[in-house]
Amino acid sequence: MSDYNLNLRRYRQTKAVRDMFATVEISASNLIQPYFVYQDLSESIPLPSIAGQNKHNLESLLKEVSLGLRNGVTSILLFFIPSSKGSCDFDYNFGSSVLKGLRAEFGDEITIFTDTCLCSHTESGHCGILENGEINNDKSVRELMKQAVAYASAGADCISPSDMMDNRIRGIRRALDEAGLSKTMIMSYSTKFSSNFYGPFRDAAESTPSSGDRKSYQIDFRNESDAMLSSLRDMEQGADILMVKPAGAYLDIINKIKSHQQMGKLPLAAYQVSGEYQALHIMAEQGLLDFDAAYLETLYAIRRSGAELIITYGANKFNQIIKR
Ligand code: PBG
Repeated sequence: MSDYNLNLRRYRQTKAVRDMFATVEISASNLIQPYFVYQDLSESIPLPSIAGQNKHNLESLLKEVSLGLRNGVTSILLFFIPSSKGSCDFDYNFGSSVLKGLRAEFGDEITIFTDTCLCSHTESGHCGILENGEINNDKSVRELMKQAVAYASAGADCISPSDMMDNRIRGIRRALDEAGLSKTMIMSYSTKFSSNFYGPFRDAAESTPSSGDRKSYQIDFRNESDAMLSSLRDMEQGADILMVKPAGAYLDIINKIKSHQQMGKLPLAAYQVSGEYQALHIMAEQGLLDFDAAYLETLYAIRRSGAELIITYGANKFNQIIKR
C-alpha cells in the first residue's frame, strides 16, 4: 500500500454496499437456545434474573421449542433442575422423561444438547461431590458418566459437561461407547472460566454454592496457559466440540483456540452467559442503548473472533431482529 490517502469510506456509503462487504455471517442454525426445565412445576413462570427466559415444564418447553423452530433455531441446550437435592447417587429420571417427550414431539428436527453437571442436584450447589469439605474429582466423574449415559439413552444428541472436573471427557466418552452410544456427541465446556457473569444463571438454576466458590475447578482468568491446556486436553480425550465460556470478555481466547494448529480444526462454541446478556437488557431498560442493535453487535464480535456456534439466550429472537 503506497498511497495512504486510501478512501475507506467508499466501503461504508450505503447499506447495500456495507452488506456486500460484510466478512462474517450468522445463521440461526449456528445458534443454540438454552432452556431451564424444572421438576414438579405446574405452569411456566418468567425467570426474574434473565430477561425473556422462563422456568419451564415439559408442556411449555414443547411450545417454546416449536416457536424456536419456526424462527430457524434447531439446537437447544437443556438445564434440568430437580426438586430434591442430595449429596451423591442422583436420580436422572426427570431429565430423561423430558428428553423422551421432546424426541416424541420433534424427532430428528432438533439437536438436543444436555448440560451435564451436578450443581443443580447437590445440596452444596457445587459441580462435584463434596467429601469432608473437598471435591472428590474421580467420584464426581463417575457420577457424570452415569448422568451422560442416562441422558444419551433417553435421546440427547450431545452431552455437554460443564462441571470442570479433571478427565471427565475421557470417562464420559468411554461410558457412552461402552453403552453402545457411540453416535452421541460431546460438547465440552472445555475452557470455562471462574466468572462473575454467571450470577443470573445461578439464581435461575438454583446452583449457587452454599459455601466456598468454584475457583478450585473453574479456570482463573489470569492464566492463559491453563485456558489453552484445558481445551487441548479435552480435544485429546474425545470432545467433538470445544467451548469458551463466557464469550464477551474472552474473545482473545476464542481467537487463540481457533488459530491453534490442532484445536482450530474442531468446531468451536462460545457461550454468551447470563450476565453478559442481562447487562444489555439493563442498559436498554435505562434507555442507554437499543437492545436489538447492541445484541447483534455482541454476536458478530463473537463470530468474528472465531466461534462457529454461539449459545445465547436470544437465539429464538435472532431471525426477527436481523430482519428489522
Ligand atoms: C454450571 C453452569 C453454569 C452455567 C452453565 N452451566 C454456572 C456456573 O458454573 O456457576 C452458566 C451459564 C450462564 O451464566 O448463562 N453447571
